[in-house]
Amino acid sequence: MPATAIEQPGAGAVPRHVAVIMDGNGRWAEQRSLPRTAGHRSGTRSVRTIIEHSVRRGVEALTLFAFSSENWQRPADEVGILMQLFLEALDREVAELDANGVRLRFIGDRGRLAPALVERMLAAERRTAEKRKLDLVVALAYGGRWDLAQATRQLASLAAAGSLAPAAIDETMLAGRLTTAGRPEPDLFIRTGGDRRVSNFLLWDLAYTELWFTDTLWPDFDVAAYEAALQDFAGRQRRLGRTTAQVRGK
Ligand code: FPP
Repeated sequence: MPATAIEQPGAGAVPRHVAVIMDGNGRWAEQRSLPRTAGHRSGTRSVRTIIEHSVRRGVEALTLFAFSSENWQRPADEVGILMQLFLEALDREVAELDANGVRLRFIGDRGRLAPALVERMLAAERRTAEKRKLDLVVALAYGGRWDLAQATRQLASLAAAGSLAPAAIDETMLAGRLTTAGRPEPDLFIRTGGDRRVSNFLLWDLAYTELWFTDTLWPDFDVAAYEAALQDFAGRQRRLGRTTAQVRGK
């Protein structure tokens, strides 16, 4: 799969793959004197909106950062409610995702998740496996460093077993062992909630991704806010290491 899909952007260019850090649920709730978990609940509505609009706009893949390796450090009751929310969302939404042609996949350290949740995740993946309209990837208990470490462990095991020469390890081979393998790298990264950092999301995959940050809190992220990011992307020039003249074909 090529590293990036859109090498000649311009009016109307749609990112093939959009990756999102959905930040600001807690602050949205605090501003309304609600418990933080009310923000997460409200955030599930934005998840639905962005999935539907991605299908409408012809985005092929959407990766959502739902729970990071670092989020385990949050208060136990917030972690518990988030896990419950993921479970409920799966039970509630999978039939509709399936009916709308969405393939659901999860990336992250499943060993840290409750067996009941992992079971539901597997069932959802199996059920939607043949769907092609949108590849929806939910990063759960995921960290970019975790992914790089697990890929490295796989290659090291092969090398230790004598079935892989260390000198043969290259970028393509490493990328092929990441949990994100097999999809185009993200063309557009969106982070809501005002912070301007990548926070251990798709570290390897974001190398050439266009970054978009907005102060909008995730529960307020609607079609208009998503469109603003898509429109901005359409106007960007992606040189991918080349000169402007080369990109223009001169
Ligand atoms: C970050 O906001 C958000 C999360 C850690 C959880 C994201 C979860 C959802 C949007 C719920 C549903 C998701 C799916 C895939 C069904 P924050 O709590 O860090 O907000 P803050 O920075 O304002 O505290």
